[in-house]
Amino acid sequence: MIILGVFTAHDAGAALFDDYRMIAAVGLERLTRMKSDGDRFPDEAIDDCLAVEGLTRKDVDVLCLPRASFPAKYFPGNPWWDLRSKRPWRFQRGVLREMMRHRTRDPLRVFDAAAFLADHGFRAGIPVHFYNHHHAHALGALFHTDWDDALLYTADGEGDRVFYSARRLADGRLTDIFGGEDASLAVFRQQNPASSVALLYAEITGALGFIPLRHEGKVLGLAALGKPRFAPWFRECFSVDDAGRIHGHRRRSTVYAELKRLAADEPREDMASSVQTVVEEVSLKAIGNVLRNNPAHRLGVAGGLFANVLLNQKLAETLPLDELFVYPAMSDAGLAAGGVLSFLLARDGLKRWLDSRARSAHGRSSARRSTATSTTASTSGFCAASSCRSRRWCAPSARATCSICRRAWSTPQTS
Ligand SMILES: [Fe+2]
Repeated sequence: MIILGVFTAHDAGAALFDDYRMIAAVGLERLTRMKSDGDRFPDEAIDDCLAVEGLTRKDVDVLCLPRASFPAKYFPGNPWWDLRSKRPWRFQRGVLREMMRHRTRDPLRVFDAAAFLADHGFRAGIPVHFYNHHHAHALGALFHTDWDDALLYTADGEGDRVFYSARRLADGRLTDIFGGEDASLAVFRQQNPASSVALLYAEITGALGFIPLRHEGKVLGLAALGKPRFAPWFRECFSVDDAGRIHGHRRRSTVYAELKRLAADEPREDMASSVQTVVEEVSLKAIGNVLRNNPAHRLGVAGGLFANVLLNQKLAETLPLDELFVYPAMSDAGLAAGGVLSFLLARDGLKRWLDSRARSAHGRSSARRSTATSTTASTSGFCAASSCRSRRWCAPSARATCSICRRAWSTPQTS
């Protein structure tokens, strides 16, 4: 069964599986050369995945989609809403919001899957599976382990109205601790946006003159050169309860206004160091409390927050763990694959899903090669056409033409 996973917001991309075997996973940014490219249907990434095995969209048996924004025409008619149809993709209508508006847990009751499949060249009538954002993050991490007892923690800017989640794998069951589907669909938000340390990090990235969701790594680098002089003020913005839930105590607008005021006058290094310090403290305490209440010796993490390598180092050094696994595609770029894994879990149940995992090459034994980061295979090379605007990496052995410039693949350089 050919299963295609797609993510459509920032860091859009596609992942193609033949049941549990990952065929390919491609981030749109790799093809367009625009970092974190997205907020649209990633046609190039989809076709690139399919080309690896010479498939077409008609060969896809299942399509997995996020509950993000799609053009208004795929939702139940409402003339006022439809006026928005000329707006960019991200400003149109969200599946999750429509589910809540219509008080349903079934996304297919608010989304015209038949029209969507027809418009995008897929076979009529194939199943369309909508996945939960943080569930997909967590499954991506778990799939590349051989653990039967573990804690899974995810954290990011926001996904399906959730900022952080925890799940426990024990006794053959995967259970939500918090941040699960109930939190996504709660009428009143269970998690306050002010509680998101990842959003704070994105905000300081912008306040320091960089591009949020793109340049957080630069803030991380600056943090090493500064002193956390403003950490006390940011520390008071958050608290962590005994269950490990993070609470935000100041309005986001207040916090961000103070960030901008400080950033205008104070050294960028000190600002970066202050926020980095607080993000580490809050996250360590939150995950530590979850671990204390749900004892486990293995921790899997995913979500954009865990692109922060200093935080990951602190987790590894501080928490009483035997193993820490940071999913390599921890950002939303990993959600296309996570969405497929979500479908497989729903189709087969947990036991078969666990038995079909591909242990990542990290840590001890690994019978199979990790596919978690296999967006570029060892056979990759550059497109040799001098006029190709991308000069990107791709796999010459699997196709005769470059999927960007459509010219014959003549003299690729193998890496
Ligand atoms: Fe995310």
